[in-house]
Amino acid sequence: MHSVKKQMRVRTRITASPAVAARLIREGRVVAFPTETVYGLGALALDERSVRMIFDAKGRPADNPLIVHIGAREQVKELVRKLPKSAERLMDAFWPGPLTIVLPRSNRVSDAVTAGLDTVGIRLPSHPVALAFLRVVGVPVAAPSANRSGRPSPTSWQAVQQDLDGRIAAILKGPRSRVGLESTVVDCSGRVPVVLRAGAVSLEELREVVRGTRSASRADVEQGRSPGLRHRHYAPRARVFVGGETPARFPARSAWIGVGKAPRGVALSESCRDVRAYARALFHFFRRCEGVGIRQIYCQTVSTRGIGAALMDRLRRAAAGSVKPVG
Ligand code: TXA
Ligand code: MG
Repeated sequence: MHSVKKQMRVRTRITASPAVAARLIREGRVVAFPTETVYGLGALALDERSVRMIFDAKGRPADNPLIVHIGAREQVKELVRKLPKSAERLMDAFWPGPLTIVLPRSNRVSDAVTAGLDTVGIRLPSHPVALAFLRVVGVPVAAPSANRSGRPSPTSWQAVQQDLDGRIAAILKGPRSRVGLESTVVDCSGRVPVVLRAGAVSLEELREVVRGTRSASRADVEQGRSPGLRHRHYAPRARVFVGGETPARFPARSAWIGVGKAPRGVALSESCRDVRAYARALFHFFRRCEGVGIRQIYCQTVSTRGIGAALMDRLRRAAAGSVKPVG
């Protein structure tokens, strides 16, 4: 409680300097930074007190583990007990990039980061500003997405500011996130890699590198292998409709997002060039809808090939979280 109060009083500094952000985080403070997927909320991963400040700032349940971000592949060694061949092959193929690899953790990584799990998720992002920042910090940085718990992941520094101004030391400014959805999480601690969360790196692409890779089953979720799937996700204030017929006449304050031409009669719409652009736009669009009091959001369905799988996953979660339409 004490640390929350302390964080409430800080002035959040907006900076474009990786060196300034790195200095603050090295002092044990919480700093948001851009990545190619979404903005992250970082603190020193090997310092328990710093890590706890992330949970305070976000209002995040302590039983959901954090991803550890690194600026160089050599940093993996001190974080893990074992490095299976499958993990090395995935790193060769997809790092730096939007892939988080879950591995048996070393005793350097505390329960605060892993929520008591025996594994740790590690990611080497490709965003140049993230890399510059992580390299100056020089030690691993634990970071969830930089939103208040229950809000959409932020894809711009302004969205971070909206959620966390006054609660964190600084925001390292960068451009809008290129991917727009969170990283693929693949668990390499077992016999075959298991995808715990869909993301920009698709199951098909992973299988080209490690053939047996599969997606998580209901049993994996029930055994607590993927705590993130248990938690309530972003629940928009508006009702979210995914696919299905669009009504002949839209109710007042409706919005639409999808690929191609927007239907007539909605108050707000976003026409995306393709599925990638749709994925990039989604979370930003949800925030825009909240800003103008939209009540219904109609989202087009896409095929689950490539990033389409991750996009459909986030859409279904948003729809499940929204108030169910009556009748
Ligand atoms: O793209 C991303 O992954 C962004 C950027 C900032 O890197 N981060 C992000 O973090 O989305 P977060 O905390 O919002 O989501 C992390 C997900 C959660 O679903 C969590 O349960 C899962 O990764 N995770 C982390 N460590 C894990 C572990 N050891 N075992 C299983 N799942 C883990
Ligand atoms: Mg998140």
